[in-house]
Amino acid sequence: QQEQIDYITQLGVVPLITLHSTQEAIPLAEALAEGGLPIAEVTFRSPYALEGMKLIKEYVSKVTLLAGTVLSIDQAKAALDAGCAGLVTPSFNPELVDWAIDNDVLIVPGTATPSDVEQAYDRGLRHVKFFPAEAYGGVATLKSLHGPFADMKFLPTGGISLTNAPLYLALNNVFAIGGSFPVPASAQQDGDWDVIVRNCSKARELVQA
Ligand code: 3PG
Repeated sequence: QQEQIDYITQLGVVPLITLHSTQEAIPLAEALAEGGLPIAEVTFRSPYALEGMKLIKEYVSKVTLLAGTVLSIDQAKAALDAGCAGLVTPSFNPELVDWAIDNDVLIVPGTATPSDVEQAYDRGLRHVKFFPAEAYGGVATLKSLHGPFADMKFLPTGGISLTNAPLYLALNNVFAIGGSFPVPASAQQDGDWDVIVRNCSKARELVQA
């Protein structure tokens, strides 16, 4: 798990994808990798998630898969069966988090408040998601959380863009940022994979800057 966290930290950006068909899974994953971000959080917000994960795992194996919007243990099990290396959740679900910890599965649970963060902290987790980042105070909130939880690292998502990304990346309690911003809905819909390659490259440049 530390290895996976290190890899996410090194890439610095986790593109979030919600598949609108199974056909787009492979070219979309290829575009992420070509843009320098061979990682994807595939969300369970569409009925194509599981099939898409399996296709990416089989045909674009260089892309590390995370399951996103995981809301139940059943979804977690299905995602792992489909080849996901870890789980990301929008909220702090104690039952799901405990199941992941007991089964040695990487989980980056969603937190938004100090109480959420404490629940993760008490369980020994030091890497959590901060969602919805912009709506919950963004950079200012992350700076405030650093006081009581100095060794907690966050993956902010929700409202992150290429414009505000540098502000988040500059925080020492942010290990990576996430979001749908590398994959604009219009580009995905039109199959304009070059846009996605370019956005991923731009995001990588921001990480390296
Ligand atoms: C998430 O689940 O992480 C968010 O819905 C991503 O939000 P975004 O679409 O604003 O990046």
